[in-house]
Amino acid sequence: MGKLFTVLYYVFILVISLSLAEKIRYDNHKLYSVTPKHLESLKFLRHLEEEGWQNYNFWTSPTRVGTPVSILVAPEGFAEIEKMAASSNMDVKIVHQNVQQLIDDESSRSTVSTARSGNFGWDSYHTLDEINSWLISLVETYPNLLTTVEGGKTYENRTILGVKLSYSNANANNTVFLEATIHAREWIAPAVQTYILNEFLTSNNASVRQLAESYDWYFFPIFNPDGYEYSHTTDRMWRKTRVPHSILCAGADPNRNWNYHWGVAGTSASPCSDAYRGPAAFSEPLVRSAAEFIESVAEKLVAYISFHSFGQMLLLPYGHTSEHLDNYDLVYDIGLKAAETLRQRYGTEYVVGTIYDTIYPASGSSVDWVKGMFKTPIAYGYELRDRGEFGFLLPADQIVPTALETLDSFITIFEEYEKSKD
Ligand SMILES: *[C@@H]1O[C@H](CO)[C@@H](O)[C@H](O)[C@H]1NC(C)=O
Ligand SMILES: *[C@@H]1O[C@H](CO)[C@@H](O)[C@H](O)[C@H]1NC(C)=O
Ligand SMILES: *[C@@H]1O[C@H](CO)[C@@H](O)[C@H](O)[C@H]1NC(C)=O
Ligand SMILES: [Zn+2]
Repeated sequence: MGKLFTVLYYVFILVISLSLAEKIRYDNHKLYSVTPKHLESLKFLRHLEEEGWQNYNFWTSPTRVGTPVSILVAPEGFAEIEKMAASSNMDVKIVHQNVQQLIDDESSRSTVSTARSGNFGWDSYHTLDEINSWLISLVETYPNLLTTVEGGKTYENRTILGVKLSYSNANANNTVFLEATIHAREWIAPAVQTYILNEFLTSNNASVRQLAESYDWYFFPIFNPDGYEYSHTTDRMWRKTRVPHSILCAGADPNRNWNYHWGVAGTSASPCSDAYRGPAAFSEPLVRSAAEFIESVAEKLVAYISFHSFGQMLLLPYGHTSEHLDNYDLVYDIGLKAAETLRQRYGTEYVVGTIYDTIYPASGSSVDWVKGMFKTPIAYGYELRDRGEFGFLLPADQIVPTALETLDSFITIFEEYEKSKD
């Protein structure tokens, strides 16, 4: 009897671990664009997001009446969504009928191009190992300019790997910190950041050279390596950390976990929500250790910029209050000019404003923490392309255009910042 139980127990464990190792599929899951038309329906959507209901994966947060929300819906959730549509409290549109198809297109493209070229490029998205190997190979190629830096450690014991780029010792107190992919599924973010790093090393363009050589730079393409790896191996839609906070759902939102007005607004207390703020500020090892690293370099920083997707927004602190604090006027003005430069290349429109005004009250982000703690002059969060047509599954042929327009806006940010000091 005991033996049988033991055998069954191991069969059970095996089945569980096989099912955990398997890639989650999104066959016939639909991407909806849902626009609440009344306060009641807005509140209902917020409730769904906060509770982290299983069949609804929010790609954007419900912000205000009239603003569409992107929601990935499992087949089990269609009836509820259709009911919402029928009730005429919301406009409901289907953007994609089968999200698995988009995911398949994305990975077939990357397999083909990686196999063909065999080296790092920007015509496909890369895994954590590929990005880290590329960083290490760059440091070997440019030993006088680059050093590897460890930005922190994660729950699964991965290193947050970055590089420091320095063309001159004179730039030490003129340091810019670039962070990307604190949210795992936002794959365009590390692609853009690595592109900019490559330009800073190889471009012959005078404006790019001037920018690269006038500052010291920290590049951290993958701030949430556990999550990013998981988004490649298991669940393309993963956003959070991998800390097992509850039996039902892993992870907390590492961009709601920083110890500055933590938990004040726009976060969730439910471990199953993608906006789960964690059980305490700095509960997430990657956030806590990254904060220690940032603190150690904070007095040298003139800028802290965080890359996210999607929505085409340039976001300013803060997310916990509607007040326009610190050097808001300057940073808003520079942001408008940067967005105008960004628009010129391909016509891509960005919205500029505080997190609170532009998206939704949301506290505990890295940008808010840095600005609040250290009053770093320039602090922005980019929400890169697009506005919901593909969302997180932005086709790889948009990587280079997205990177180019972002680099254009970067040049304006720092030119305008230098002017403001005169
Ligand atoms: C991380 O490393 C520590 C120390 O070696 C170990 O105790 C812990 O179990 C590891 N955690 C994971 C999730 O592998
Ligand atoms: C940076 O600032 C510190 C503290 O003010 C100063 O001691 C140091 O000389 C400065 N370094 C450079 C390269 O300007
Ligand atoms: C140099 O790069 C900037 C920013 O990307 C761009 O606006 C400008 O047109 C480039 N200049 C040349 C000569 O290519
Ligand atoms: Zn994000």
